[in-house]
Amino acid sequence: MAGSNGLHTLGRRYAHITGWGKALPDRIVTNQELEQIVDTSDEWIRTRSGIHQRYIAVDPRENAVTLGTRAAMAALDVADFPVSKLDLLICSTSSPAHLFPSTGSLIQDALGATRAGAFDLSAACSGFVYAISLANAMIVSGQVESVLVIGTEVLSRLIDWSDRNTCVLFGDGAGAVLLQASPVPGGVLSTVLGSDGSGGDLLSVPAGGTSMPTTLETVAAGQHFIKMDGKAVFRFATRIMVEATREALDKASMSIADVNLVIPHQANERIIRSSMKQLDLPDDKVFINLYNYGNTSTASIPIALCEAIEQGRLHSNDNLIMVGFGAGLTWAATAIKWAVPGAREVPRWRVSQRQASYSLARVRSRLLRYSRQVENSLTSEEGDVLGEVLAQRIEGWRKTRDE
Ligand code: COA
Repeated sequence: MAGSNGLHTLGRRYAHITGWGKALPDRIVTNQELEQIVDTSDEWIRTRSGIHQRYIAVDPRENAVTLGTRAAMAALDVADFPVSKLDLLICSTSSPAHLFPSTGSLIQDALGATRAGAFDLSAACSGFVYAISLANAMIVSGQVESVLVIGTEVLSRLIDWSDRNTCVLFGDGAGAVLLQASPVPGGVLSTVLGSDGSGGDLLSVPAGGTSMPTTLETVAAGQHFIKMDGKAVFRFATRIMVEATREALDKASMSIADVNLVIPHQANERIIRSSMKQLDLPDDKVFINLYNYGNTSTASIPIALCEAIEQGRLHSNDNLIMVGFGAGLTWAATAIKWAVPGAREVPRWRVSQRQASYSLARVRSRLLRYSRQVENSLTSEEGDVLGEVLAQRIEGWRKTRDE
């Protein structure tokens, strides 16, 4: 047993965050711009939500995959981790590029993480913390050594830009963290996951799934946009943030006094301040950055984590709480002992090497697509031979890259 005396706990494994990154679209949309399109005011948005501006993916080529990939690359750079060694990629999103294939699989392909399993996790704004919980369980149980957790959203594509109740609140963006197994005590200490589906209708996109498939009528009725009962969500959020934080602290055998920093889901400044007040947490222990981003759903906590680190708000051995709530209804919290030393210099050449591997991943992906097309156009015997040759080439190529 280790802990306080610095020796490692025999055989125990811990999941530590070793890399982090964020990605945002280029276009900033201010409250003043929204005044031009709906009946609202900068004053109303600031006082009711705290939001000043948000990033919106106006470029149609930008989507949950492209943003998530950029955030993931940044996290791998910070960790200086070779993507070829990644075991698992969990992508949390409510605005996936497609119903399927999963956004996670497409990011895995873009990264060239050929060894990694990949899937999407759907728990709305709580999804990032849900994914941390899952990653922790996979690492601690010894099933994997490394997990990339990504939260990526392009909610602007699900917003009715004539609905002032929702369009002023949300923004686009992505954040990612790499978790790695370590014998050093710390990292993820506890996680809390919750759900109450009876509140599903309070925040939803009604159509486009199997209960209300897409028809001309659903499109005309705006049923593919986000619908929200803001007041009910507000009431739920202020209660559940408090309960989930307390539960995560209890499970980690910690008290409020042990907390160095809380990174809450960045939905509304009033929700955050009200819940943190109930917890007796002073302002300087709570990180808020929604002013500049709006509510980026599952991406809000990892984006805030990156900024907190950039601003020097997290130090080695700090006790960190991340807590979120969202559609479902869902909620999640985690207590983490931050055991990562401060910013490390990653040699420039290793960053370039990783970038080269992403270019190779793009070529590999195209080649695989092309070879499938060619295979389809051949007889089965010709196809088998060609498939075998290509598989050998790609395998050889992969080995050279990984050496
Ligand atoms: N500009 C101006 N007025 C607006 C507005 C806007 N963008 N959006 C709504 N209003 C109006 C409403 O129509 C309503 O008018 P009415 O009373 O005439 O019907 C009034 O403002 C409601 O104001 P208020 O009571 O102050 O609202 P609120 O304090 O509940 O704040 C929210 C509204 C949406 C900001 C707040 O409820 C909230 O943040 N809820 C949680 C939402 C959330 O976090 N969702 C994501 C969860 S992950």
